[in-house]
Amino acid sequence: MDLLTINQLELEGKRVLLRADFNVPFFRIDRIPTEADISDDFRIRSAVPTIKLIIERGGIPIILAHLGRPKGKELSLSLVPVAGRLSRLLGQNVIFAEDCIGVRVKELCAELKKGDVVLLENIRFHEGEENNNTGFAKELASLGDVYINEAFGDVHRAHASIVGLPALLPHAAGPLMIREIEALSRLKDNPARPLVAVMGGAKISTKIDFLEKFLPWVDSLLLGGALASTLVKAQGYNIGKSFAEESMLERVNTFDFKSPKVHMPSDVIVAKEASPIAKTEVRKINEIRDDESIFDIGPETRKIFTKIIGESRTVFWNGPMGMHEIPSFAKGTETVAEAVALSEAFSVVGGGDTTVIIERLYLDHYIEFISTGGGAMLEFLCGQKLPGLLALAKK
Ligand code: 3PG
Repeated sequence: MDLLTINQLELEGKRVLLRADFNVPFFRIDRIPTEADISDDFRIRSAVPTIKLIIERGGIPIILAHLGRPKGKELSLSLVPVAGRLSRLLGQNVIFAEDCIGVRVKELCAELKKGDVVLLENIRFHEGEENNNTGFAKELASLGDVYINEAFGDVHRAHASIVGLPALLPHAAGPLMIREIEALSRLKDNPARPLVAVMGGAKISTKIDFLEKFLPWVDSLLLGGALASTLVKAQGYNIGKSFAEESMLERVNTFDFKSPKVHMPSDVIVAKEASPIAKTEVRKINEIRDDESIFDIGPETRKIFTKIIGESRTVFWNGPMGMHEIPSFAKGTETVAEAVALSEAFSVVGGGDTTVIIERLYLDHYIEFISTGGGAMLEFLCGQKLPGLLALAKK
């Protein structure tokens, strides 16, 4: 798809509405979060070069972003902590607007001067965002002169800030968006083979459609994490007290478990509780006891996955292999991370936890491309038409 790029937009003296994806994770706390509670700022860091580029080209960035899925205004989902982190990363003060529409924000944006950077409050505090309400999109549009979209992670959402704004203002895809599309297109359209996809994470309900669509495309599909536990249970094995999505057991039966491309864990690490001091055991997949839970893939599975990844020429990884936050359950995830990083293959990783693990292990320089997208990335790889990209395409 041919997208309009930032080079085709005049930015000098313009107020630039920049849609960024600042939907970052926070440590689990039961108070209003602060900047120090952001557990991974990869998405914020990824937008910094574009913000600097806009400033260099004489534009004034007015940044629009969302956090979480609020129902109305929820202080725990304010973007105040993000403004703090962005100021630190940019090395300059970021002006925080307490709302994204209204008279005060309009006045603030009208008075901005070159060098200023503004972050507007969570656009999802207004239901007009998710409904793509025309009045809401027009109010947002009135704050700026041009629109740039860098929020690759949100292009699967037909929201006001994603599809409404580019219909109202001169617009372009930002450089990060273009890099995402180039890297993921290389993976999708022309992968060197064998192509291996490693899929993990907690919920099979969010991934089963993708697994089914990926199967004809990949040469091997390696499955781990709690999503694999639901699949293991659906195959009739006892998974003890392991987390499984009971409501999905029937749905996943259409998945082609018998395909030679599919590699499920043949052994796992189990414990009686999710605790760093719990005693761990290795179990064959058909030997799990009633009082045990699966928390990681086992040594035999690690060996098989490492071999398949090592022989790949393209590898894509999304989602941890187990409860990696607890060191005694992290080995499977860390082994996959190292295998992906050390392989000679063209490697792409993406999805919240996956990027955190890569950075925690200092492996980011060994990975060809780390996507800022989660669901959007998976939908792109499945070849779905994404409304946010269609809105940026040359007509
Ligand atoms: C993401 O985190 O994948 C994006 O920011 C989209 O968020 P959403 O799934 O809440 O729309």
